[in-house]
Amino acid sequence: MNTVNIGPIDLDVVDRGSGAPLLLVHGFPLDHTMWNAQIEVLSVRHRVIAPDLRGFGRSGSADDETTTMQQFADDLAALLDALHVAQPVTFCGLSMGGYIAWEFFRRHRQRLAALILCDTRAEADDREAARGRRLMASCVMAEGVLAVPEAMLPKLLAPQTFAEKPGLAESLRQTILATSPASIAAAQRGMAARADSTALLGQIDLPALVIVGEHDAISTAREMRKISDAIVGAQFVEVPDAGHMSPLENPPVVSAAIAKFLG
Ligand code: MLT
Repeated sequence: MNTVNIGPIDLDVVDRGSGAPLLLVHGFPLDHTMWNAQIEVLSVRHRVIAPDLRGFGRSGSADDETTTMQQFADDLAALLDALHVAQPVTFCGLSMGGYIAWEFFRRHRQRLAALILCDTRAEADDREAARGRRLMASCVMAEGVLAVPEAMLPKLLAPQTFAEKPGLAESLRQTILATSPASIAAAQRGMAARADSTALLGQIDLPALVIVGEHDAISTAREMRKISDAIVGAQFVEVPDAGHMSPLENPPVVSAAIAKFLG
């Protein structure tokens, strides 16, 4: 991994391979390692850039009270500058990474060649969901992150994954437990405040691939089919034997879908 300074903070990033750049943006509250299988396969033909977002993995944090999706998007644009990536990138984001993709499209459209949206949502939180996030933010600040894996893992993985790949749940648990309460709280507050991007979908004028695990409990296949239908010309792939973490739960299908889309 490289450590790259982007002004106020350092971001850690995997930058591997050469060719057209592919930016892999992880979900919450995880790090770049969720993409390990895709980094391995896709870096054979592409320049794969897989950072840890601010506050996550090994990246630095600015101790923000709230980290907005705009801030994450601007960090990524600054990272591409620091890595001298002038060519437009394919932005591939999972879940929170997808929420960041909408902001990246709004703010840095000229840097984009294509979009890959994995297991994400275009709608903003309703009042109840936003309240739940703020509650988790205050709980982790008061009590630490111990309760977070129990709250999140059942939604992240399909029941079959728990049964057949217990090591995967354990490794996600360790990643979550290694994250600071302040970073979890700041990102939850940022997601609670994120804009609704439903109306943006019709404005997306880029090649797009929409990927969803068939058992995704957070961003369902039905909801993601709607996202795909609203983006002109988007391709849609439903991943069997996978929940919300489709790139981890069924890596060969997700890597092959991305490789095919990239051509
Ligand atoms: C993620 O995987 O990034 C989270 O599930 C996003 C969310 O909490 O909405």
